[in-house]
Amino acid sequence: MTKKLFIKTWGCQMNVYDSARMVDVLAPLGYRPVDEPDGADMVILNTCHIREKAAEKVFSELGRLRQLKDRKAEAEDGRMILAVAGCVAQAEGEEIVARAPFVDMVFGPQTYHTLPEMVAKASRAAGSVLNTDFPAESKFDLLPEEAGSQGVAAFLAVQEGCDKFCTFCVVPYTRGAEFSRPAGQILAEAKRLVAGGTREITLLGQNVNAWHGDGPDGATWGLGRLIRALAEIDGLARIRYTTSHPRDMADDLIRAHAEVPQLMPYLHLPVQAGSDRILAAMNRKHSADDYRRLVDRLRDAKPDLAMSGDFIVGFPGETDADFAQTLKLVTEIGYAQAYSFKYSSRPGTPAAVEGAQLPDAVKEARLEALRQLLDAQQIAFNHGFVGRSVPVLFDRVGRRDGQLLGRSPWMQSVHAEADERLLGRIVEVRVDAARANSLAGTVVTGEYVTASSFQPAVTLEASA
Ligand code: 5AD
Ligand code: SF4
Repeated sequence: MTKKLFIKTWGCQMNVYDSARMVDVLAPLGYRPVDEPDGADMVILNTCHIREKAAEKVFSELGRLRQLKDRKAEAEDGRMILAVAGCVAQAEGEEIVARAPFVDMVFGPQTYHTLPEMVAKASRAAGSVLNTDFPAESKFDLLPEEAGSQGVAAFLAVQEGCDKFCTFCVVPYTRGAEFSRPAGQILAEAKRLVAGGTREITLLGQNVNAWHGDGPDGATWGLGRLIRALAEIDGLARIRYTTSHPRDMADDLIRAHAEVPQLMPYLHLPVQAGSDRILAAMNRKHSADDYRRLVDRLRDAKPDLAMSGDFIVGFPGETDADFAQTLKLVTEIGYAQAYSFKYSSRPGTPAAVEGAQLPDAVKEARLEALRQLLDAQQIAFNHGFVGRSVPVLFDRVGRRDGQLLGRSPWMQSVHAEADERLLGRIVEVRVDAARANSLAGTVVTGEYVTASSFQPAVTLEASA
């Protein structure tokens, strides 16, 4: 009998990947994904702990779901198994069980390969099953092969966890220590994805460029070597990776940007702040100049590399002069796109108890100033493409009839009137208009080009 499974996913792409793998694990038990929680036999909230009030959002969602669970029971339509997964579950598992005893399962990111056992336990017993272990075995060795195709653009988790311990961040506590999957396992998964129609793979990891795994040749590989091996897979046109730490940008990975045409010219490389004093307080293990030099080397290797980043404003003790250093760094680097956040303290992290916490009004004003600068850079970057041609990999149908959506090599969203047969193809599109977050264009040739044969007609300069 098929059972209905609803998963709500918050947060990063790793969570999106994890949710897809939970669907795979639950498929042999008869669960099939549905689009709404009403009437579902199992509802999983796959949570994120990075943002402020993350746990409160989960509790209010649970309040709503409890009504659906009760309604299903009253209608004698069977039981709704309610689960909380992900990083809030890992960090606040016991609190969830205590405050929301109607939740049946609470489990962390490292345990979902044991879902069949947890479901069996939850079905038998009243009360919640809590599993926030960091098991010795790797879930990647025990998960089933992916059940379905992920589509034209897919994610592949290669690395998980983090050993960096930035003082503001919960990831080392919720995801645990750094772990790299072996290269053979990753290459096999990539080949299966490509056989299922995937043309672009984004390698995922909390600290993805720290990946180092056993290669099929017995040597330890770094991410650059892995990317070169992936580039040999026939039909895989594009490779990306996210998220990286400046300290782990190895020479071979930088060279791969110059030498591997399938590796896309876009890099998410968070710096967080521009002041060395704040970077030290954040335990970032690099200075602002280290980052500048690194970006110079990357741009020497790949002149059209588009930069993306993350920034935190209002870190404890940050002065106006410190913040001015962030604006200076942003102006010098020139970002194609970036995320910026007000610092907010996370229980259990060192920054939550050290340094002077700043008033919200100060954080708000700095965030506004930084966003204005980043938005202006993004708009300038996108406007630089108007009138030029870009190779677009169409990966989705658009909202309007006859429209396809895809991405440029530089991660811009591009939409154009196009035949649905162009889905999954890389097509030359002339950019007619640029908005803050997307480009609109016209298909120039129906001629299908591969990533390696397409020579982009654009040369990019830093936008600032
Ligand atoms: N406060 C604000 N931003 C944070 N981030 C992580 N932890 C915090 C926090 N406590 C941001 C960082 C990170 C991104 C994923 O989220 O910029 O790179
Ligand atoms: Fe968190 Fe990234 Fe720092 Fe690791 S490197 S502690 S994931 S911000």
